[in-house]
Amino acid sequence: MEKLLPKAKQQKFHLLKLTKKQQLTKNTFSLEFEIPENLKQEFRFDAGQYVTLKYPSKGEVYQNDFSMTSAPYEEKLTLGIKINSEESSTNDLFHGFEPGHLVEVSEPKGRFTLTSKPHEFRTIIGFAGGIGITPLLSHFKNILHNEPRTRLYLFYGNTTKDNVPFKKEIDELVEKNKSRFEVHYFYSREKVGNAFLEGRLDEKKLHLIINQLMMIDDTDEEVTLWDSVDEVLICGKGEMIKSLANACYNNGIPKKNIHFELFEEYNEDIYSQEKEFPLVEDIAVDFKIFNNRYQTSLKDNKMRLLQQLLIQKFPVPYSCKSGICGSCECVLEEGEVELLENEYLTEKEEKSGKILACMSVVLSKKIKVNFDLDS
Ligand code: FES
Repeated sequence: MEKLLPKAKQQKFHLLKLTKKQQLTKNTFSLEFEIPENLKQEFRFDAGQYVTLKYPSKGEVYQNDFSMTSAPYEEKLTLGIKINSEESSTNDLFHGFEPGHLVEVSEPKGRFTLTSKPHEFRTIIGFAGGIGITPLLSHFKNILHNEPRTRLYLFYGNTTKDNVPFKKEIDELVEKNKSRFEVHYFYSREKVGNAFLEGRLDEKKLHLIINQLMMIDDTDEEVTLWDSVDEVLICGKGEMIKSLANACYNNGIPKKNIHFELFEEYNEDIYSQEKEFPLVEDIAVDFKIFNNRYQTSLKDNKMRLLQQLLIQKFPVPYSCKSGICGSCECVLEEGEVELLENEYLTEKEEKSGKILACMSVVLSKKIKVNFDLDS
């Protein structure tokens, strides 16, 4: 999956041998890499993480992030990639490399991960749109392998039946794990004779899912699926994530249990602000990132700091935009902000001046912030 997100930290690349290339649908493909013995440590990864590939396209060197579809226990690195158009750099990636070629691949990273709980009886549901299935596939394989009592439900939206990346692999997983893995495919541009399965994955659909899907809980009672959800994983476009994450939250799932990965630039907050603040206007912002200092100003403090810098096209890092992943962590060197929510920083880190830009509302006329945490 092609991700266009900015990155705060320098990456370490290694040459890996491409062992398999496979077209999945008209505009998606997978690449599989071998991890040599001497790089096993560097390429150890958690389900849900991604790597960056460096590759040439139209006279330039591109760097794009792609999530692993393989699970850590498989000891290989498989990626799912979408070709958005013929002009897309991923079209050149698809046509420019064959098995046997070496590709520059970064060490794995990313925080769309879950703590493994092999001894618990959990229910985890996943929502994926299109190629957004990639990190979920890694998660689901991993959970089925490591957590014998966890039940999984996947709600996977695509345009048509011909356009479902990794369908064969998912169906094989269901076949092997019938008692604890259920998948529902949704189609936004194809009639399949069942209104429940037609249309987009959004808040409306989520309500149908809550009301229609029943399951047997661990005391043998029939309950709605919703009554026993422990974790939610969502991956796809910004609008879909926003709609589903809010619907999950409004239906009682705590934000810390709703995990999502944005695969495109998305200039809106996922959750809306619930608190009012005194208005501060004409705010001077001085910040450091990648060893560069920038000065800019914010019209007011109605939006959170990260959002305002992204709208101004600064290369600030982010992933979850909801105080969970820590990608936007920075140090407040001067001024005052209110941190709305924080599931990431420890009390000690907060006291030392660390903030999360995605959850910070500026409360002073001037702030100075440093994203280069090592400096
Ligand atoms: S972007 Fe995830 S904590 Fe800010």
